[in-house]
Amino acid sequence: MLVLGIETSCDETGIALYETQSGLLAHTLYSQVELHSEYGGIVPELASRDHVRKVLPLVREVLAKANCALTDLDGIAYTCGPGLIGALLVGAMMAKSMGYALNIPTLGIHHLEGHLLAVMLEEKKPEFPFIALLVSGGHTLLVKVQAIGQYTILGETLDDAVGEAFDKTAKLLGLSYPGGAALAKLAEQGDPTRFCFPRPMVDRPGLDFSFSGLKTAALNTVHLQGRDAKTCADIARAFEDAVVETLVIKSLRAIKATGIHRLVVAGGVGANQSLRAALFARIFEQAGEVFFPRLEFCTDNGAMIAYVGCVRLNAGQYDTASLCVSPRWALDELSAIMPAEKHGK
Ligand code: KG4
Ligand code: ZN
Repeated sequence: MLVLGIETSCDETGIALYETQSGLLAHTLYSQVELHSEYGGIVPELASRDHVRKVLPLVREVLAKANCALTDLDGIAYTCGPGLIGALLVGAMMAKSMGYALNIPTLGIHHLEGHLLAVMLEEKKPEFPFIALLVSGGHTLLVKVQAIGQYTILGETLDDAVGEAFDKTAKLLGLSYPGGAALAKLAEQGDPTRFCFPRPMVDRPGLDFSFSGLKTAALNTVHLQGRDAKTCADIARAFEDAVVETLVIKSLRAIKATGIHRLVVAGGVGANQSLRAALFARIFEQAGEVFFPRLEFCTDNGAMIAYVGCVRLNAGQYDTASLCVSPRWALDELSAIMPAEKHGK
């Protein structure tokens, strides 16, 4: 089965082709970062309009890359939530129109399920069940993944998502939006001993997170110490160290609580090298295994949507004719596909 995946939930237009036997055939991504950077954050209406401009040329591009014709497609998967409503509607409209014209099924995919399962595009992939640490710009979750569609949320952020905290702190340090990767780069030059920020909520039981206090710690430090280049690098380092250690402590706690020794790291912040190195080392020490998607599939992409779409369409799921997107949509409302082992690559 050959499935086209369309991701337009936020500020990236991601398109990919996934085939049941051969795996990922082609993928392409257009990022709107430059468009939004002058506003210091995403402008939803501009995002929708840019998706309209890009989606069709990118569909043509992946088809050409994979040497496929439109008529080779067996199904179309698109992100239908959570995300920006206008942006989601562009992908949904595109998928539905193509599905109607080609007389093939379409299926709306949960964006976070895409992130959770992006690791299945790698050679080194986990068996079920596993624990996922999903850290993106909008979400911070620890999830027990029992099978495809069987997700139990073990912990989540009570305020800012990790990526959001990275972005807000980066802005405070004068870095341009989205700022997470730039802050991480700046932190490499920072002195790890100059400032020590709190590790939020690690002294309390449970698996929830809170990151808004770290952004305040950074702000207070700027007020006291100023914003010269060295201080900014030292603050970036203290911030990143606090985030990484907090995520490591909570991930290890989730592993201990569930007895599941496989951890998948997903979402944009999963591209952070310090986080990857710390998790790798600490989970190895505990005789556990950690799995990461390649860097380009940590952040938003069409490949993860094409993959999930292929698995679900292959299992006989498809949309009704009506057009429906869900800007807010809980991950644990998803339907399961059983048995999961049948629906590998
Ligand atoms: O998953 P994603 O592409 O979009 C959402 O679904 O939110 O994640 C984007 C987030 C942004 O907040 C960005 O700053 C952060 O991931 N990010 C990073 C790094 N690369 C991207 N944060 C820390 N270190 C990085 N290397
Ligand atoms: Zn995302």
